[in-house]
Order: sequence, then structure tokens, then C-alpha cells
Amino acid sequence: MNTVVSGIRSTGKLHLGNYFGALKNFVRMQHENQCYFFIADYHSLTTHPTPENLHGSVKQVFAEYLACGLDPEVATLYVQSDVPEIPELYLLLNMNAYLGELERCTSFKDKIRSMPNNVNAGLLTYPTLMAADIIIHKANKVPVGKDQEQHLEMTRTFAGRFNRLYKVDFFPQPVAYNFGEQLVKIPGLDGSGKMGKSEGNAIYLSDEPKAIRKKVMKAVTDGGPTEPNQPKPEPIQNLFTLMNVVSSADTVEFFNEKYNSCVIRYGDMKKQLAEDIIAFTDPLRLRIEDILSNTDYLRKVAERGAEKARESASRTIKEVRNIIGFKPF
Ligand code: TRP
Repeated sequence: MNTVVSGIRSTGKLHLGNYFGALKNFVRMQHENQCYFFIADYHSLTTHPTPENLHGSVKQVFAEYLACGLDPEVATLYVQSDVPEIPELYLLLNMNAYLGELERCTSFKDKIRSMPNNVNAGLLTYPTLMAADIIIHKANKVPVGKDQEQHLEMTRTFAGRFNRLYKVDFFPQPVAYNFGEQLVKIPGLDGSGKMGKSEGNAIYLSDEPKAIRKKVMKAVTDGGPTEPNQPKPEPIQNLFTLMNVVSSADTVEFFNEKYNSCVIRYGDMKKQLAEDIIAFTDPLRLRIEDILSNTDYLRKVAERGAEKARESASRTIKEVRNIIGFKPF
């Protein structure tokens, strides 16, 4: 059986892209693997959130995970900062992480560009913290998107370096969990590219119906096809891609047919798409609200998750300390 670790940044709520790109697969995956899912709240400190914002967004994302179907009885669901073994391993890994390789990391270079006044050591060592998250459970699979592949590569470097330095075969080399066909990329509705929080084009699971209608009606389109069976330009294809995941096959076929015969009215298509998105997200939104209002339940789940995560993490740390030479007199 695989041991899988996945972290999600705690900044902000989940959107449709997160759901279809990751969560939907996590829900299936949790039954076939030993899964550790956590909220990466230490990572989010690189941007200095206020205490209220930090706490609020961790709680929100935790509730959203539960609402989407991650089952705390099946998987281990926890908050990163509840597991002190992670920062301990992070400190140890930092001793063998080199400035050059950390500086060459693309995500670090991007951050230098996007926030030149806040190039802190936490940003530089983001990959060692992520490596600690993963190898603390001796995971062998990590479900990551393209943007995280380099971090996973660095995780293998740090794990392998530890093994070589201490002449042990202790940490496995974690590889990407491949969802294959099942992986759906959700586009934004602003003409091109993917849906994302930083892209400012996201439809959130917790959005009210009114907000969803407004966002969908603003979607970029064009003057419409002029010849039958024309290939669809990107903004139009994006509408269809979204429709494919939320609407019935009949609905998709109906608008496809209209497109191919050049009589499509994008206004009608958007109205239908908005209602189908709402039919999908609204039960989730209500479940999120329900869970958020039940603080006792949330606390219990987080405590139980932390307990399970620490069982595994403390086993690893104990051995690591012993390997390094931290031993009782
Ligand atoms: N870096 C990941 C992201 O930005 C989040 C993350 C932190 C993560 N630690 C992890 C993902 C460990 C997988 C495994 O999305």
C-alpha cells in the first residue's frame, strides 16, 4: 500500500479548480492508500497573515476538506502546526540543504520577483519544509501538479542525501501520484489559462448563487462561429470544459450542436452553465457552513488527526534522531 502525503496552502477558500483538480481524486484515493492530508499553515506564514486571517482561513479550508468528502475516519486529516515533529525535521534537513540549490528553485525566483521587499528565509527554505512534510511519514507518493514537481524533485534530493550521509536506507524516494485520465484541468472564465485564486478568476465552493451567476455571465466569449463545425477558440472551449464537469451530457450536446450549426447564443449557454454550477456547489456550500458552525466537531476532528499524524511523525523523528547521533547518555 502507498503512503500518500498532500498539503494544501491555507490561504483562501477552495475553488472549482481545486475540487476537480485535486479534492475529487483525494476522496477516491483515501480508500486505496494510507493518506495524510494537511493544511499547510506554516507555509502560509511567509506572507505574514494577521492572526485573525491565519486562523480563519485554516478553519475554512479544514471545513471545506471535510465538506468535500475527506473522511477523518479513513484518512489522517490534520493541521501542519499541530505536529511539532515537522518543524524539527525541517531544522535537521536545513543543515544539508545548500544555498545554491535553494536559490535556483523556480518558485523562490518567482517570489523574489513578486515580493522583492519580503525575501525571507522561510521563502528560501520552503522546499525543505515541504520535504519535511512528506518524508516525516516516509511517504512514497505525492499528488502534485506541474507547479510542485520541482519541490518534489528537491524532496528526493534531500531524502537521498540524508540516506547517503548516514549510510542508511531510511527515507523512500517519493514520486508524483499520477491520476492519469482522471485529472481534469479547470480553466478560468477570463479567456485563457487555468482557474486560480491568484488569477482572480475563481469560482469558490462557498460562493453564493448570486455571485456565481455574476461571474459566469462575465465570462469572455466572441462574436460566435461563422462556419459550421469550426474548431472552438480557447475562451469558448473553456465554457465547454466547465460545462463538461458540471452539466449533464445532454446539455453539453445541446450547446455543442448549437455551436456547430452556428446558432449558439452564449448568453443562454452561460445562464445554463451558471445554474448547473450552482446545483453542484450549493449543497457543498451549505455543508461547509454547517461544519463551520460546529466548532466542537471541528476541534475534535483536528485533535484526532493531529494525534494520528504525530503517531507516525514521532516514529520517524525518533529514528532520525538516533541515526544522526542524538542519543540519551
Ligand atoms: N507547496 C504546496 C502548494 O503550494 C503545498 C504543500 C506544502 C504540499 N507541503 C506539501 C503539497 C507536501 C504536497 C506535499 O500547493
